[in-house]
Amino acid sequence: MLDIDLEFATASAPATVSNVAVGFDILGFSLTGMSDEVTVRRVEEPGVRIVKIEGGQNLPEDPEENTATAGLVAMARARKLSFGLEVTIAKGVPQQSGLGGSAASAVAAVVAASAVMDTPLSLPERFHYALLGEALAAGSPHGDNIAPAMLGGLILVRSMDPFDVMRIPVPHSMGAVVIHPDLSVDVRRARNLLSGEIDLGDFVAQSANLAGFIGGCFRDDRALIGRSLQDLVIEPQRSHLIPGFAAVKAAALGAGALGCSISGAGPAVFAIHDLDVDPEVIKEAMIKAFADADVEATGLISPINGMGGHVIERGPRVKKKSTKASPESA
Ligand code: HSE
Repeated sequence: MLDIDLEFATASAPATVSNVAVGFDILGFSLTGMSDEVTVRRVEEPGVRIVKIEGGQNLPEDPEENTATAGLVAMARARKLSFGLEVTIAKGVPQQSGLGGSAASAVAAVVAASAVMDTPLSLPERFHYALLGEALAAGSPHGDNIAPAMLGGLILVRSMDPFDVMRIPVPHSMGAVVIHPDLSVDVRRARNLLSGEIDLGDFVAQSANLAGFIGGCFRDDRALIGRSLQDLVIEPQRSHLIPGFAAVKAAALGAGALGCSISGAGPAVFAIHDLDVDPEVIKEAMIKAFADADVEATGLISPINGMGGHVIERGPRVKKKSTKASPESA
């Protein structure tokens, strides 16, 4: 019989800002202009193999150890795939930057793999398998980079299991400035240094800020968003990992940003701005503050409502002769 196979798919998934000051491990938004790309090629020999890694440094070539492919290995086992997947990873998001590099790879990989399956992965399945890769990088799973890298925009992860995420509307006039200092922070270390206890007063204030930020997004109330974007819990415990952080934040706010905090576990720092302020001015002020602390930095100006992981190339669709039906699973 004639069979039609999708031979390969390449997917792109964006860098992300997680935590967003008030939503540790539960809130994140996608960035436009920085992404990872993963190509998954369907081949006859079963198993998942990494054939090439472009960019990135010291990334594991063992598919069980690589954040891009760990989820694919689990998926191939769960589905008992009778064919194999060859994976090429092109890193565009800097590693250990706080910009969701491992999530971008993991999401791009599952989106590309889903496109070459006979039965595509559901959204909860894609989330689940991408999360396995993220857990490798961080030591424990958290979905605040995976969800926005998958869906785009600002996403609240109410629960990872069962899968329960929610898109938060972002006022169209708002955008982000992200500054990446030439430093790296190990996410496991940044998580290990967090205290397991929160002062009750800080818990109340942080809950109010999270509610205020989300309410401000729904009501298109920038003043409320600005008042609410304050991290009383995580930022004070991590800011010492970023030389010059206090001055960089002061520079962003002084240049008119609504709020500024650490992106994910850092060292990247993000600021949110409205239309009345030129984001270039915020970007230059933040880069100068880093320079004053002897830290080189680069900046990215991005919308908050960008795209999530998506297929950018696929094919060729090959017609070939097959002697049997082509079940995906045995
Ligand atoms: N929410 C995570 C953290 C993001 O701050 O540790 C880093 O992967």
